[in-house]
Amino acid sequence: MKDKLKKIRDEGVLKIAKVKSLKELKDVERFYLGKGSELSLVLSSLKGLSVEEKKVIGPLVNEIKKELKGLIDKKEKEIEKEEVLKKLNDEFFDITMPVKSNINGHIHILAQIQNEIENIFSDMGFAVVDGPEVESEYYNFEGLNIPKDHPARDMQDTFFVTDKHEFKHGRLVLRTQTSPVQVRTMERFGAPLRVIAPGRTFRNEATDASHEHTFHQVEGLLIDKDISLAHLKGVMKEFLARLFKADVDVRFRPGYFPFVEPGVELDFSCVLCKGKGCSMCKNTGWVEFMGAGMVHPNVLKAGGIDSKKYTGWAFGFGMERLAIMRYKIEDIRLFHSGDLRFLQQF
Ligand code: FA5
Repeated sequence: MKDKLKKIRDEGVLKIAKVKSLKELKDVERFYLGKGSELSLVLSSLKGLSVEEKKVIGPLVNEIKKELKGLIDKKEKEIEKEEVLKKLNDEFFDITMPVKSNINGHIHILAQIQNEIENIFSDMGFAVVDGPEVESEYYNFEGLNIPKDHPARDMQDTFFVTDKHEFKHGRLVLRTQTSPVQVRTMERFGAPLRVIAPGRTFRNEATDASHEHTFHQVEGLLIDKDISLAHLKGVMKEFLARLFKADVDVRFRPGYFPFVEPGVELDFSCVLCKGKGCSMCKNTGWVEFMGAGMVHPNVLKAGGIDSKKYTGWAFGFGMERLAIMRYKIEDIRLFHSGDLRFLQQF
């Protein structure tokens, strides 16, 4: 029996020494120390031996088991160490290579301009208000003195959201202008009022370098006692001077919008050529900027404001067109193109 045990032990020591992988080692461990292993069979056959034999064989089996277990544990650590070293050797790892820097996004050019506009008007005492982009026909048209079937509706090709259903305020449209915020704000706050309403607008038109279906406008509305267009001239001259950081002149031309009376178009003196004539002002010295006028009494009425007590003016200009002028951008479609080569310039 002793010889048999010695043979098992010697073979085990040899096999453990030759093992190359952790998987192989597990197999060897199961073979020598597992439940059905020869050593455990010897232990379970001790019953049939004499007391003397039991005293010798029992401790010998345990001693061999302990020795083999010790060798297996040692081998396991050796293999693990070798595997780590091999991995490090196999993978090329250049610690001198510069780390990739994180590319952070930044504020979109239009949002930057909008912030700038809001800051200037806020400094001049205007509050910034908002209105829904999906608007009712009423606020987009009727409330602004543009009744159904009025030819002025053709000036703005409209996206209808719901063609069939009529709600309390008519069908739903994507607002074609920021002007619907006028009546909404009058209803909400009453007079006096001094607000701007920047926001996204939509028109169902064929796009080209200066026309988009989705663009941004800034609406302005001031209502108080004894207000005239002279106040509008003063406010816009100051706004443009702060925006362009230059002395700017403004002028009115007659213009037609059903929600103002009288209606005007406002131009400003070209800040690039200082009136001498260049491509920005088409050699006229003046840049066409926005529509404006005195708020029509029907619009004040729709907003619940007494037109005998209060007067006011409103204006609306395009934000993309302003950015185009300022940065000499060739195509309006670049703003929403998502082209980083364009966006990262600002
Ligand atoms: C209006 O939308 C009026 N609501 C402005 C107004 C407000 C007049 C208050 C009087 C009182 P108009 O359709 O001209 O007006 O548009 C105003 C500006 O929006 C234009 O000057 C232009 O800068 C911009 N705009 C209009 N259509 C487009 C378009 N398809 N793409 C880009 N910008 C546009």
